Amino acid sequence: MANENLSNAKRAKNDEFYTQWIDIEKEINAYLEYNPDVFREKIILLPCDDPEWSNFTKYFAQNFMNFGLKKLISTSYAYESKQFGLTQQLTLFEKKSPKFDKKKSKVNGKIFTLEANEVNGNVNINNLRFDYLSGDGDFRSDEVKKLRDEADIIITNPPFSLFREFLAWIVEANKRFCIIGNLNAITYKESFPLIASNMMWLGSTIHSGDREFRVPDEYPITAAGSRIGENGEKYLRIKGVRWFTNIDHGRRHQPLELMTMKDNLKFNNHKGKITYPKYDNYNAIEVSFTDAIPSDFNGVMGVPISFLDKYNPEQFEIVGFRKGDDGKDLVYTLNDSDTLKKVQPYFRILIKHINHNSELDDN
Ligand SMILES: C[S@@+](CC[C@H](N)C(=O)[O-])C[C@H]1O[C@@H](n2cnc3c(N)ncnc32)[C@H](O)[C@@H]1O
Repeated sequence: MANENLSNAKRAKNDEFYTQWIDIEKEINAYLEYNPDVFREKIILLPCDDPEWSNFTKYFAQNFMNFGLKKLISTSYAYESKQFGLTQQLTLFEKKSPKFDKKKSKVNGKIFTLEANEVNGNVNINNLRFDYLSGDGDFRSDEVKKLRDEADIIITNPPFSLFREFLAWIVEANKRFCIIGNLNAITYKESFPLIASNMMWLGSTIHSGDREFRVPDEYPITAAGSRIGENGEKYLRIKGVRWFTNIDHGRRHQPLELMTMKDNLKFNNHKGKITYPKYDNYNAIEVSFTDAIPSDFNGVMGVPISFLDKYNPEQFEIVGFRKGDDGKDLVYTLNDSDTLKKVQPYFRILIKHINHNSELDDN
């Protein structure tokens, strides 16, 4: 029971990570660089948001005119439904609104909207219209589903514990999206088919290291990577974070620079760790580092999931994931000082070159 409480608490805490403005701005800029009209005349929904804490609503309200948005809708989850004790800070919208209702402010979700035909000139967060939702703002509620159906693009950092469900919720409505999750989400059975069929890819700007998120004031930050800001606000660095999207950007059309197998073995051998063994249970070679993908191998190659940070769909085709022909995890045999050792690498993506080099087929 204690353990269960602990993991529930951990999950709930992980749901209250607030994205930094700079991370939002960099990613959105990458879409705009690729297509300056990407948001023009669009209805954007920011669910699981919260202008008391979150920067998504502030960012899109401030850029409403620049981006040429048709409508911005942001919804938040009710204070009392949040599992971790956030300090409730009423927004000025709420406090100043004639609709302010002390009880509703705890148990109802909130909705903030901005419509092009209602504003002009300098628009920012103060122009948002505020109201309470009739329910708690759960993205799975009929009320928020209706807003989803009305929207063209869905953007947020959803609760980490509900990532799978959130992704399915977007996909079932066939919407454009840009959401934050952990790189490991690629390994979910719901995610991989989307990635393999180019219906979802990684965003442009977060590829390595970690990112800092604001956490609630009550968050017990003792962990390495935590920080207290100038005004006492708390931040935590989280590893493995990525944007997941189906909005196009330039980075995914840049080809990965490659060397031949021979040159990789000679110049890029990661202290002798590049050996290109063949899997025992699939006709492919193991390539343990993305930067060791050879330019001159026509067959299938198993690569780490971080390959997706460099994936260009014009250069490579994704043919499978993780499993060999026997339905078990990919495995190869290593001859280690005359002892045969079975090695099962961590989740491999099976890829092959799109521009097949026919000269190699005879070798
Ligand atoms: C990771 S935080 C991100 C908040 C904000 N989007 C941001 O990035 O700054 C996820 C938010 O979703 C809320 N949430 C949790 N469960 C939810 C649900 N079932 N439906 C809607 N929102 C939920 C959490 O309370 C939290 O505010």
